[in-house]
Amino acid sequence: TDRYAVFGNPIGHSKSPRIHALFAAQTGQDISYEAILVERGSFPAAVDAFMAADTAPARGANVTVPFKEEAFRLATRRTPRAEAAGAVNTLSFDAGAIIGDNTDGAGLVRDLKHNLGCDPAGRRILLLGAGGAARGVILPLLLENPAELVIANRTEETAARLALEFGRLPGCAVSVKPDGIGFAGLAGRAFDLVINATSAGLSGAVLPLPTAVFAPRCVAYEMVYGRATPFMNQARAAGARVADGLGMLVEQAAEAFFVWRGVRPRTASVLAALKTP
Ligand code: ATR
Repeated sequence: TDRYAVFGNPIGHSKSPRIHALFAAQTGQDISYEAILVERGSFPAAVDAFMAADTAPARGANVTVPFKEEAFRLATRRTPRAEAAGAVNTLSFDAGAIIGDNTDGAGLVRDLKHNLGCDPAGRRILLLGAGGAARGVILPLLLENPAELVIANRTEETAARLALEFGRLPGCAVSVKPDGIGFAGLAGRAFDLVINATSAGLSGAVLPLPTAVFAPRCVAYEMVYGRATPFMNQARAAGARVADGLGMLVEQAAEAFFVWRGVRPRTASVLAALKTP
């Protein structure tokens, strides 16, 4: 049995152990996967302890809030998509090396394309927010060749800085350079895909979005899951097709499973299982 875990705080309600148990059963992989609550300040020690326990080999881990940036620093090597995200949600342990990856953006793109029938290619995309969650999905979205990618944030300057940074990514042949604006800059603009990567939904705060940002047949994607956020209500009222972040959660897990095991689990049945308690 190869050992895996997810590290976070809080971690009690994490769905990752259930998701990976379902993946393992489906693919016949002999793994264990546990949730580990880590006190702030103890992340490196917690990873050390997990790797050192000699019950069975520790092969990897997922990392969630608030340790993704710390995991980035802990990694001895990082994938390009982890470098771009500035955060790591997937660690692989390999003969003393700790390889940091980030599967969040790939998970979002896969959920959009395979589960929601919303291929980002050629679409006008609006990304709301400029924090860690937004940063993690910019490169994967750009690589899908959207018609445009506009990053809008409450603090305009942060969006502008992020857009500048991703417009200058070295060695990355993306055809579209992102644009960074404040919410006021959204007046008179329309998008085919609007992604909420702000944490506003968690506090129930309403984003000041003009109704017209949701173009006809728009898909509105809320990265938060498990609750109806004001963004979802706004989007639905504007006629958009609304999705929450549960699909992204399952798909980022599937991508991590693939990184670790070299087999890609099918996700539809797992997503269905998670929707029924
Ligand atoms: P995360 O890791 O979830 O992205 P973060 O890095 O703290 O968390 O970023 C939070 C994002 O949500 C930011 O874009 C933040 O906007 P600011 O940069 O202006 O702070 C956004 N956000 C949080 N609460 C918000 C609210 N009530 N209205 C609008 N944006 C909000």
